[in-house]
Amino acid sequence: MSAPATSREEAIQAALATVDDPEIRRPITDLGMVKSFTIDEDGLVRVELLLTVSGCPLRDKLNNDITSAVSAVPGVSGVLVDFGVMSKEQRQDLQTRLRGGGGAEPVIPFAEPGSRTRVYAIASGKGGVGKSSVTVNLAAALAARGLSVGVVDADIYGHSVPRMLGAAGKPTRVEDMIMPPESHGVKVISIGMFTAQNAAVVWRGPMLHRALQQFLADVYWGDLDVLLLDLPPGTGDVAISLAQLLPNAEILVVTTPQTAAAEVAERAGAISLQTHQRLVGVVENMSWLELPTGERMEIFGSGGGQVVAEKLSRTLGAEVPLLGQIPLDTRVREAGDAGLPIVLAEPTAPAAQAITAVADRLAVRRESLVGKPLGLKPAGR
Ligand SMILES: Nc1ncnc2c1ncn2[C@@H]1O[C@H](COP(=O)(O)OP(=O)(O)OP(=O)(O)O)[C@@H](O)[C@H]1O
Ligand SMILES: [Mg+2]
Repeated sequence: MSAPATSREEAIQAALATVDDPEIRRPITDLGMVKSFTIDEDGLVRVELLLTVSGCPLRDKLNNDITSAVSAVPGVSGVLVDFGVMSKEQRQDLQTRLRGGGGAEPVIPFAEPGSRTRVYAIASGKGGVGKSSVTVNLAAALAARGLSVGVVDADIYGHSVPRMLGAAGKPTRVEDMIMPPESHGVKVISIGMFTAQNAAVVWRGPMLHRALQQFLADVYWGDLDVLLLDLPPGTGDVAISLAQLLPNAEILVVTTPQTAAAEVAERAGAISLQTHQRLVGVVENMSWLELPTGERMEIFGSGGGQVVAEKLSRTLGAEVPLLGQIPLDTRVREAGDAGLPIVLAEPTAPAAQAITAVADRLAVRRESLVGKPLGLKPAGR
């Protein structure tokens, strides 16, 4: 005996609600993608689905997911999915819905009061000290802990983050919203995704500012626990723009043990004094190479990270900790080249463990202050 028609329709509706759009990661029913469905007397279900863009590459996945979810409903003998495309109005509707219905103006959600996303900007004085490697490994380690993580490759000139994370896919657009590709549980956006392959990008300050603002506002990040920004080296336009766009971002300084690198790293960190941003700590990278004998060879000298942390503590009048020392290991580079960060590829390698330990210290979610009692006790009672 088959179920009565209405409850069977409800069951199909419920089954459809378990299917997420693979890019937006929300139920297709919430996104207005299910235009209608019918069920004939033989139990054949036809679903009319509206894609956000025509030629959506994830059409097959949607087809499979819908078919298997709806087939499981008792009384359903088969499933057919007809694909259509959203009209401009429907896409605008979706965009409003994704933005929480709060009008069309893009806002940077992480800069809103009460945002619970922790934002870390990875900075350095010198180039090539391992900022991007540290960023992608921290991101992967944090995502592996179950946190929702996003990365902005803010290095307009040297974007390397997508390759290092194996997220080379193009972002999809829904109207003005950009859906970031995801890899190893990390959502990634880079300027490299918007320019022709390896085209040299020469952007002036105001354009940079606008691009960053767009990354932060127009990308649909969802509810992130942590956002990491890979900054270009030095104390340039990007750092200043970011301070304006995300005043609550905390700075993480990467340096090598070398004295010359440490000096410029200190300068990069000290700008937080002017921008009133918190400095979360210093990471020393390329600290030593472990020889087969177990001996540590200090290729770039020693002590740079500690010196930077101490000097910055003095300059800022607040404790700036040395969060970790990451040894040199060819597997760091190989893993980066292969798009699988070393914390995932070789989690027991000392370099991976050093980065994971830093991630552990960054993983604490920001407590929202909204609705919190201030904890002020009346004095003397
Ligand atoms: N601990 C490490 N051991 C071995 N190789 C490393 C290590 N850290 C980084 N590398 C390698 O050093 C090179 C530079 O690293 P990376 O690109 O992360 O630095 P960066 O500071 O982001 O550079 P840029 O200033 O060019 O953006 C890369 O080839 C990377 O694979
Ligand atoms: Mg880099």
